[in-house]
Amino acid sequence: MRDEKNERNLKETSLINREKISRLEKGERLSKEELTALLSSYTPEDRRFAGEKARKISQSCFGNGIYIRGLLEISNICKNDCLYCGIRRSNRQAPRYRLTPQEILEGCAWGYEAGFRTFVLQGGEDPFWDDRAVEDLVKRIKARFPDCAVTLSLGEKEKETYRRWFEAGADRYLLRHETACPEHYAKLHPPELSLAHRMQCLEDLKEIGYQTGCGCMVGSPYQTAEHLAQDLLYMQDFQPQMIGIGPFIPHGQTPFKAFPPGKLEDVLFLLSLIRLMHPRVLLPATTALGTIAPDGREQGILAGANVVMPNISPEEARKKYRLYDGKIESKGEIGESLRELRESFRSIGYEMVVGRGDYPGKEGTL
Ligand code: 5AD
Repeated sequence: MRDEKNERNLKETSLINREKISRLEKGERLSKEELTALLSSYTPEDRRFAGEKARKISQSCFGNGIYIRGLLEISNICKNDCLYCGIRRSNRQAPRYRLTPQEILEGCAWGYEAGFRTFVLQGGEDPFWDDRAVEDLVKRIKARFPDCAVTLSLGEKEKETYRRWFEAGADRYLLRHETACPEHYAKLHPPELSLAHRMQCLEDLKEIGYQTGCGCMVGSPYQTAEHLAQDLLYMQDFQPQMIGIGPFIPHGQTPFKAFPPGKLEDVLFLLSLIRLMHPRVLLPATTALGTIAPDGREQGILAGANVVMPNISPEEARKKYRLYDGKIESKGEIGESLRELRESFRSIGYEMVVGRGDYPGKEGTL
């Protein structure tokens, strides 16, 4: 008897969930309560339902093209102390490194040969990479590879700094907001960091003219479905050009070492909802997603993602840029792992695109 009732309830919930998913697809805005209920009660069938719709939208905007970005991890030196992050300043065990401008340019040259037309320079908040140093670097990359886009992901800076880098030629900036709830933000970060400041940075970046990316971790410590609903609403208000989400993964040398990782299903469901809410957004299937499941990135594509960011840092740097444990590592030659990735995308019906990938375009395939 009780089982029957349970089953009826489940069916009703699923009906309500699908109706919400369809409303998102139509561009309607759901309330925080509606999104929270959806995120706490979705079934595998609801996820499939959202995934199919999301995939269709991706295909109508981007065809079967996947944009690739060459990720260069330029430094793991960081003045911040985020509780989740393996390169936080308190982690005295992390071997630190910083690439030289020469190494970065060589990385770009290699990446260009392999077909990359976007270079993402990501790093900790390392004082060495000040206004002048990044400006020079961006200018050199743009002079040598004028048909390439440069994306920066170097943390919170003054608006004037962001402007200077933009004027030097940087095209895009990634700065995840991490969580849109101030109280939750305070549980993940030291007191000197605030959500308000991070959001101000995001506003500044957008105003300056960068293609701007925000995003959050899924399954981070103390996160609730309501927090994720807030993240979705923040993204809907902010209207970024890029959204980066991936599972939280514990790092053994952080205070969060004993927390469980984020769940694959949750990340995939969120990717689909984000695609429904932002049809043209650039949405990567992240390395962290590929770390919690061997075919995580392929599943991410099938859930609505359309970007991958293979790591093209020199091998020594790749080992040391450890934000979390178990990070997938392309062993040996990078060209080989790019070929493997391309084959695995082909096997699910997608092709890697050569081109900057600013927007759905008719570019050649790799
Ligand atoms: N697990 C997953 N993602 C992490 N990041 C930092 N530490 C972790 C972790 N332990 C993410 C943050 C940051 C991005 C560069 O990496 O969201 O913005």
